[in-house]
Amino acid sequence: MSFDAAPDNSLLTRLRQATGPQHEAVEALLKLDGEIAGPHYRRVLAGFALFLSAWEPAVRAALPGDLQDWFDARSRLGFLRQDLQALAVASPPTSVGIVGALAIATPAEALGSMYVLEGSALGGQLIARTVARTLGLTPQAGAAYFHGWGERTGDNWRAFRQVLEQRVPQADHQDAADAAVRTFEALRATFRPLVTA
Ligand code: HEM
Repeated sequence: MSFDAAPDNSLLTRLRQATGPQHEAVEALLKLDGEIAGPHYRRVLAGFALFLSAWEPAVRAALPGDLQDWFDARSRLGFLRQDLQALAVASPPTSVGIVGALAIATPAEALGSMYVLEGSALGGQLIARTVARTLGLTPQAGAAYFHGWGERTGDNWRAFRQVLEQRVPQADHQDAADAAVRTFEALRATFRPLVTA
């Protein structure tokens, strides 16, 4: 699966370049590409819930009004709550502190930060298959979050990319890239204490 090919001067190219090392670091931290142990998987889900329940309101508030319903419709927090319930994982408290320090204040920062979570839905497709193979979990019972929008994931990603390129002017590309890097860092700060016990 590939959703690639972006022109050199596009914001997507800038975001990919800025966050490449961050992606490698989070992959190394989460270790979701081989055998996944059940307790580890539950801690990862709890980490996403912790992060997203603070991140979503912060990003929503920084987006222009006409993008807020669009943002709500893309939320995968409901999938995550289904999984936590199916696997009887206690909903963690929100990580307002970590997300507050992200300082997402402008539409460019909000869209740059969204790139990180929207992009993670692509890797999620792969992770959902690993989770099915190693833990036997289906989207209906414990693997809804990584399965996410399933077959619609590619179309969703392309639609997100259009908004990204249309709504962030060149002058704000750096702000968007900085926010994306901070978002990866905040995710790692959220996960670190949960998965490296
Ligand atoms: C907090 C965790 C993660 C975040 C925030 C994240 C973020 C992202 C982002 C932003 C992209 C899009 C890159 C682009 O095309 O511009 C991406 C793609 C991808 N990620 Fe992750 N990722 C995470 C975890 C993982 C893990 C653990 C794996 C591997 C097991 C993984 C595998 C992939 C793959 C394979 C793609 C490319 C998908 C494709 O093009 O078909 N990701 N991720």
